[in-house]
Amino acid sequence: MIDQEAIVQTLSTNHFGKKVFSFDSIDSTNTFAKNVERIIAPHGTVVIAEEQTAGRGRLQRNWRSTKGENLLFTVILYPEFDVEKIVLLPFVGSLAVVDAIETVTGLTATCKWPNDVLINSKKICGMLLESSSGSAGIERIVLGIGVNVNQIEFSEELVGKASSLRIESGNNVDRIRLLQSILEALELRYHQLSSFPPVQILNDWKMKALLFGKKILVLEHECSFTATAIDVAEDGSLIIETGEGEKRNLFAGDVSLAYE
Ligand code: BTN
Repeated sequence: MIDQEAIVQTLSTNHFGKKVFSFDSIDSTNTFAKNVERIIAPHGTVVIAEEQTAGRGRLQRNWRSTKGENLLFTVILYPEFDVEKIVLLPFVGSLAVVDAIETVTGLTATCKWPNDVLINSKKICGMLLESSSGSAGIERIVLGIGVNVNQIEFSEELVGKASSLRIESGNNVDRIRLLQSILEALELRYHQLSSFPPVQILNDWKMKALLFGKKILVLEHECSFTATAIDVAEDGSLIIETGEGEKRNLFAGDVSLAYE
């Protein structure tokens, strides 16, 4: 089990990761994070596990990860800004992971819309954001992050599509150090979103994305088509141009995409 003391002792954040729930095995850190009482899980609380028995990905997919080799965690957030900024949290999350990977490993990582992190075009990290609302609107966001850190074997369907920091760098990576670095970057990026115009975080994200001007394959409710990625709008949607020259906005909940 990941030692919560080891995380907290040398962590240089104000809130993020100051409270940790650490599990050897759990169904899903996101599920726990959604249900834990707020009184014992303040803003920035981390739920982390060595193994998930029902890890969840975007678009009702599963998230599989070899026990003890990767990072599987969720950060609990109670945003005090409005929904126009809340929709940009996926960009905060992926930028923070890119920042941390570059700091800890020296590898160059890139962002793929909406919230994947790639190295050498292979997926290293995925995120699942879920919200719960009350009478005042969105009250809690859980930001679930899965990073392939030291795993060296992937199932047949993922070979060529997924990779890990260990494979890409040739070295074992210290998971605690990486987690601390992600939490530190996340706190900074979260502050950037809450305190500055949203265009700032979007511009930083765009500089880390290899997407624009490229042909992409869009998978939308069972049907797929090719398009060119043009830009990201202020509401976080991806602006694409279809083969017929029509411009459209894609929303993260509905689609997944691959590079052509
Ligand atoms: C995706 O790329 O489809 C998102 C994957 C998100 C996986 C993480 S692992 C920790 C957290 N708990 C979950 O059940 N899912 C997220």
